[in-house]
Amino acid sequence: MSMKSIRDATIAGLRVLMRCDFNVPLDKEGGVTDDFRIRSTLPTIEYILGKKGKLVLMTHLGDPDGKPTKALSVERIRKKLAELLDTPVASAQDCVGKTIEESTRRMKPGDVLLLENVRFHKEEEENNKEFAQKLAALGDMYVNDAFSVCHRPHASVVGVPLLLPAYAGFFLELELQGLERLLLNPAHPVVAVIGGKKIESKLPVIDRISKTADAVLLGNILANEAKSKKVKFKNSSKIFMPLDGIPGQGKEFDIGPKTKALYVKILKNAKTVFWAGPLGKYEDARYEEGSLAVAKAIIKSNAYSIAGGGNLLAFLGKHRLREKFSHVSTGGSAMLEFLSGKKLPGLEALNYYAGN
Ligand code: 3PG
Repeated sequence: MSMKSIRDATIAGLRVLMRCDFNVPLDKEGGVTDDFRIRSTLPTIEYILGKKGKLVLMTHLGDPDGKPTKALSVERIRKKLAELLDTPVASAQDCVGKTIEESTRRMKPGDVLLLENVRFHKEEEENNKEFAQKLAALGDMYVNDAFSVCHRPHASVVGVPLLLPAYAGFFLELELQGLERLLLNPAHPVVAVIGGKKIESKLPVIDRISKTADAVLLGNILANEAKSKKVKFKNSSKIFMPLDGIPGQGKEFDIGPKTKALYVKILKNAKTVFWAGPLGKYEDARYEEGSLAVAKAIIKSNAYSIAGGGNLLAFLGKHRLREKFSHVSTGGSAMLEFLSGKKLPGLEALNYYAGN
């Protein structure tokens, strides 16, 4: 059996319990500062509503440590979603319980209910069976449209799909198609650009991608970490370390002019590009030159381009460059784990690996 798409489901009149990732950046007042993740799932939401489903949405927000935390209530997200959908979205006091179950049974086709933060219960992260059963009582079928949490073996990700007929949403499918295109027969030359920090978390993806890629270009912070930790790359002949850096506070906060010229030259002929993590200390405008030059070179190359990870998403959003990429992944760790060849529990629960 392989993963079923929401396209294959009979939806009319049924309660559709859908896992979204509305874990979005908030400002100090709790306003949503970047609604990309919410917008990404709108096609699935609109499809379900168009098919006369009753939509029960669940998400986590931040890390409340298993306790209700006012600042991490999904209320702001509810408002944003209602605004984007131009339809009322009902709120819930909690994400499980008899009262909520009864209210889902009173829902009419086309109604939308957003459950409170699933991580207000520690049982979510523990993948507690009874908790998963309580969540499953709120739907007649389950949809996962949250690729970015598929690496988490949590109740709403892996517990519920075992209890209800389970389907993949359109955005989850789109994420997989984008990333599969990189792993399976990509057009060459394939160039990967890996920035950010934490070499330990990036090493598996560098090793896996360098098997397929013709060149892997590293940012300074990551490269310096790799040097000081004496990291051994599997396909070291394909790994490019920066030739120079822009210093700041005794460190190198961006690629220097020689590196920029080299990376732009390599990217010029690329046919497939994967980019994870900005190259420099991108939050500071003095150190975003390298990432901007790389972004422009990728766009100019007309390659099939994938960009992903929260910080890179923020950087590309700030410069209004996201829509110039072929696919922008909402996944951070989920994307890196998938591309490293690790099996993601959320996808296993949907039988993705059985038929692909
Ligand atoms: C993310 O932001 O990468 C996902 O929402 C997963 O969040 P988590 O790292 O808190 O599980």
